[in-house]
Amino acid sequence: MSAFSRVLLLAAALATAAPAVAQDKVLNLYSSRHYQTDEALYANFTKLTGIKINRIEAGEDALIERIRSEGARSPADVLVTVDAGRLWRAEQAGLFQPVKSAALEARIPASLREAAGHWFGFSMRARLIAFNKAKVKPEELRSYEDLADPKWKGRVCMRSSSNIYNLSLMGALIDHLGETKAESWARAVRGNLARDPKGGDTDQLKAVAAGECDVTISNQYYYARLARSAKADERLVAERVGVVFPNQASWGTHINISGAGVLKHAPNRDAAIRFLEYLASDEAQRYFADGNNEWPVVAQVKVDNPVLNAFGEFRRDALNVAVLGRNQPASQKLYDRVAWK
Ligand SMILES: [Fe+2]
Repeated sequence: MSAFSRVLLLAAALATAAPAVAQDKVLNLYSSRHYQTDEALYANFTKLTGIKINRIEAGEDALIERIRSEGARSPADVLVTVDAGRLWRAEQAGLFQPVKSAALEARIPASLREAAGHWFGFSMRARLIAFNKAKVKPEELRSYEDLADPKWKGRVCMRSSSNIYNLSLMGALIDHLGETKAESWARAVRGNLARDPKGGDTDQLKAVAAGECDVTISNQYYYARLARSAKADERLVAERVGVVFPNQASWGTHINISGAGVLKHAPNRDAAIRFLEYLASDEAQRYFADGNNEWPVVAQVKVDNPVLNAFGEFRRDALNVAVLGRNQPASQKLYDRVAWK
């Protein structure tokens, strides 16, 4: 037998042996995400590593509560959830352990992960201004600050101030404007509301399309979801609504993340870190981001998403998303002071 065939045989033996050894390796994933592309995302991880994924899916806040109540006996290795403000809450509750990973630090921009490695962003979302195309010109709305103008009186729809997206947006406004100006902004926008805050981002977009109000704020993926919907009435909503990436001439559009962290009592810590590193790989980035019409956090990875690609490049807020969490208590108090429900 030649040396070359011996190498081939050895390689074949290793290839068949590796998954057998890894057969009992598992990862317990608690996730509030469920998208079509997730199946491929997880199957591919198992194929690459031999680590089987057990998934527990529930609502964001329910998962955090569950991990907290399971305490040191929690089987959870990784928590995947949305919004830096929520990851911050989980961190504050002491649920995560810090992870040091050269791969994660090299691939994920510092502004999109927690400095000590308690959690990492794996996809990016932007909070946009949306408007009724028949009634508003995009030039009228260049910044979040513009929504405070009295010209919008009775024309603005917004969701509740206790919603994590609005808390995180306020966290950014407090950082950029200072608390006094941020409060004046919130008071003015609240005064411009067409109706009491209710519903989610999609409900705001539908209200704008229906003419119940003229402008709102929404994450880009709700707009993209409507634009790509199989239902004609949903596509019509997106056709009637235009979007603006605010603050291109100042600090940039407000950015948030979907992310994950390794839990403090993770029984399968090594598998958990491997999973996070996998999520930062080119292929996983595409699945993870595109599943919810979000952008990858790894700069060179591009998604093939018609709505996102039509948006093009834009200036993003460079603020570290951890600040959104840190400002969360101040944000809620500020909204309460201006009686934004
Ligand atoms: Fe959302």
